[in-house]
Amino acid sequence: MPKENRRILVTSALPYANGPIHLGHLVEYIQTDIWTRYQRLAGHECYYVCADDAHGTPIMLRAENDGVTPEQLIDRIGAEHRADFAEFLVAFDNYHTTHSPENRQYSELIYQRLRDNGHISRRTIKQAFDPQKGIFLPDRYIKGQCPQCGAADQYGDNCEVCGSTYSPTDLINPVSVVSGVTPIERESEHFFFRLKDFEDMLKTWTRGEHLQPEVQNKLQEWFHVGLRDWDISRDAPYFGFQIPDQPDKYFYVWLDAPIGYMASFKNLCDKSDLKFDDFWDPDSSTELYHFIGKDILYFHALFWPAMLDGAGFRKPSAVFAHGFLTVNGHKMSKSRGTFITARTYLDHLNPEYLRYYFAAKLNNRVEDLDLNMEDFVLRVNSDLVGKVVNIASRCAGFISKRFDGYLAAGVHDAELYQTFVDAGAHIAECYQRREYSRGMREIMSLADQANQYIADHKPWEIGKREGQEDLLQEVCSMGLNLFRVLITYLSPVIPATAGKVEAFLDCEIVTAGGWHNVRHPLTGHRVKPYEHLLRRVDNKQVEAMIEASKQTVGTAAEPGPLQAEPIAASIGIDDFNKLDLRIVRITQAERVEGADKLLKLILDLGGEQRTVFAGIKSAYPPEELAGRYTVMVANLAPRKMRFGVSEGMVLAAGPGGKDLWLLSPDDGAQPGMRVK
Ligand code: 2FM
Ligand code: ZN
Repeated sequence: MPKENRRILVTSALPYANGPIHLGHLVEYIQTDIWTRYQRLAGHECYYVCADDAHGTPIMLRAENDGVTPEQLIDRIGAEHRADFAEFLVAFDNYHTTHSPENRQYSELIYQRLRDNGHISRRTIKQAFDPQKGIFLPDRYIKGQCPQCGAADQYGDNCEVCGSTYSPTDLINPVSVVSGVTPIERESEHFFFRLKDFEDMLKTWTRGEHLQPEVQNKLQEWFHVGLRDWDISRDAPYFGFQIPDQPDKYFYVWLDAPIGYMASFKNLCDKSDLKFDDFWDPDSSTELYHFIGKDILYFHALFWPAMLDGAGFRKPSAVFAHGFLTVNGHKMSKSRGTFITARTYLDHLNPEYLRYYFAAKLNNRVEDLDLNMEDFVLRVNSDLVGKVVNIASRCAGFISKRFDGYLAAGVHDAELYQTFVDAGAHIAECYQRREYSRGMREIMSLADQANQYIADHKPWEIGKREGQEDLLQEVCSMGLNLFRVLITYLSPVIPATAGKVEAFLDCEIVTAGGWHNVRHPLTGHRVKPYEHLLRRVDNKQVEAMIEASKQTVGTAAEPGPLQAEPIAASIGIDDFNKLDLRIVRITQAERVEGADKLLKLILDLGGEQRTVFAGIKSAYPPEELAGRYTVMVANLAPRKMRFGVSEGMVLAAGPGGKDLWLLSPDDGAQPGMRVK
């Protein structure tokens, strides 16, 4: 049994400050937020902290690419993240950044303690280096041909075609994603955290209650393979914290990221009466939980407890890992419109729908979760609107119109009410154990019972009968009391609706310890006029969101800001002036027998006709092209190709589809016009 008066510190993984929050991220923040809201509702002292993960090579390069400083980039993205979380009702007690004085202080302290305790070693290693850019290249920044299957365009660590893993030096014809040049090998001294020093401690710690059973099994595999030293340094230029007394050496982003949990909490302590040591001393009686995705288990179940142990801090009470989000059964995909950012979702749908849907599907195992759009619409409409909100809308009108807002003095069906109160113990346990889907099922089965009660007593018929005023008031009051219990149980999931219900019922729900208020029904109490609580989801909103997601570009998941194709060598203005660019009208477009990518275009230059073979078949079906305008290089010497002579070249931009840039006649373009 968990003890009373628990003091709990909770974190979610820190999102990188180089891209938008998307629905995949939100599984975790919503899961954690529900848990922390439940803890407070149950009367425990619970703090939820997080921060932006602001360091590392991708952020440094993205800032450079955007023409801003890394500080400017992380400030802008940090503000976007905060706004997204706030609108999704993710209620952090503190949201900080890893690029903060507190984080520098604790990163240096932990490093110095580890070093002084003999847990840091140094040795020289060889690494891929971009000689043009002057930086060492992380594996993801090298591309080339897979050494196993020969597939082109594969990253330096693994092949997406055949699945093999290798080191970037094995790639055939490797190129730097940043500059396009061939990387060279260069030596440099690195600092390593000696994870093996902690093997015994970790073996004991990971066998306890701190990890889910399936994670414990995974760890046994890792122990079996053997714990290796962890490279915690990176060479300049790097956006991060310099290692004390080591010019040109920086802490690897993953060293200071989890320390960001401490730093965010320290920042909260400095703004409140909280004492940092109460939560981080080795003998502290408080609880510390980290919610994370399954991909970052190694960091949280091995490196992090070892770092804390080696530096004289407490270890986590538990690490809770969840699986990934799929949408309609697939990995999120931009072309399908299922790579949905938090912002795009918010532009179309109420955040509480998603909070409820995730809750209805989450359990405490490391399983992937599928957001099925059809199921989403059905579930939200049938459960939240059809079952729960419906109870209030069927009873509230009578209470306000016929009884001036006053509820009956007694409880009409005390036994049923007690069933609802008693069910609270198991629902609480479901929240505590992160078995939300089970909890939601229990709540919906109570909602079914409440609806059955109303259907059995038919207030709309009682209301028509003479002399049954008391009964009408009792039945409707009973309905509203059951509704209050349901909303209390659901409030960690749908806090905004719970807030509206507080205002309507004029009683406290979302308040510390509020879970227990349901023991006492509202009797002889006056409620406020009922106002609309939650609308049904419309399929059209979902479709519009998917459509909008097809348009959004740029994600944190890929090194997107970088040009995979390097800019060609610069040319002088004289060379540029030699180009004769003309607007042309495509009069005819047809497929070319035997050519995968080519279309044969007949172009009108305002009198003169040209035939051009253009490689744009994958972007446009030829039937869509006739009548459209584009720009051509009119003075390119004719080239003999396998399928005929091409008399020029058409210009188009973007990855294809809608992004291919063609003019429409409405733009005022005229065939033959010169493009300056
Ligand atoms: O994987 C990620 O997105 C990391 N930014 C998570 C860091 S969690 C913690 F260790 F800071
Ligand atoms: Zn391969």
